[in-house]
Amino acid sequence: MQICKTKDYDDMSRKAANIIAAQVTMKPDCVLGLATGSSPIGTYKELIARYNNGDLDFSKATSVNLDEYKGLPGDNDQSYRYFMNHNFFDHVNLPKERTFVPDGTEPDADKACDAYNQIIADVGGIDLQLLGLGHNGHIGFNEPADCFPPVTHCVDLTASTIDANKRFFDSEDDVPKQAYTMGIGNIMLARKIVVVVSGADKADILKKVVEGPITPEVPASILQLHPDVTIVADEAAAAKLS
Ligand code: F6R
Repeated sequence: MQICKTKDYDDMSRKAANIIAAQVTMKPDCVLGLATGSSPIGTYKELIARYNNGDLDFSKATSVNLDEYKGLPGDNDQSYRYFMNHNFFDHVNLPKERTFVPDGTEPDADKACDAYNQIIADVGGIDLQLLGLGHNGHIGFNEPADCFPPVTHCVDLTASTIDANKRFFDSEDDVPKQAYTMGIGNIMLARKIVVVVSGADKADILKKVVEGPITPEVPASILQLHPDVTIVADEAAAAKLS
């Protein structure tokens, strides 16, 4: 694992964007695995700025996102498709038809997950997967468990996640109770992985991920076994690393 320590969130975002920009420059028809959440927003802003400067061209690239809420269509502002359109896809020349997110509108979980695994295979696998890190070590929606889920699957959201999401919806009935997520195996097959981690509240979990035992109780700890992982962490998040 390479650890790249940065001054702050903005510096982290620039460094992560450097790695993604190098990937897109060296292999214009690359497949980018992308994430939602607060950690990569600055990275997307940097990539958009470089596209606007004429330094980056996404016209030949493809993207596959990690996860999506089951039951939410892409025009719902809580969906991850909406997030990606709003924070990245609408601002660069990555052809929309080659931006993939699990189909939250497919009620049949097996069908949705099989189709997504097939999409990942059809595009030739992931060249570079961008990840954020959950406070409990989750990546995608792969929460602490007693095994590492291999491929895209449907997960039941925890009561605390459902509760936290309540404020974004008109009624509790509208809050998604499940999500589709790539499995740990899909992520581990990415040829390169970049993890963006920011803030003091991530320092304890980052130490476990990097220096602790490899265990499905800390899903991201399996990244220790990947041959090409770069963790881009700001000073606050990296503070407890030895
Ligand atoms: C996002 C995702 C999640 C987040 C993680 C960290 O698509 O799958 O695993 O990366 O929850 O979220 P933030 O960046 O908001 O701290």
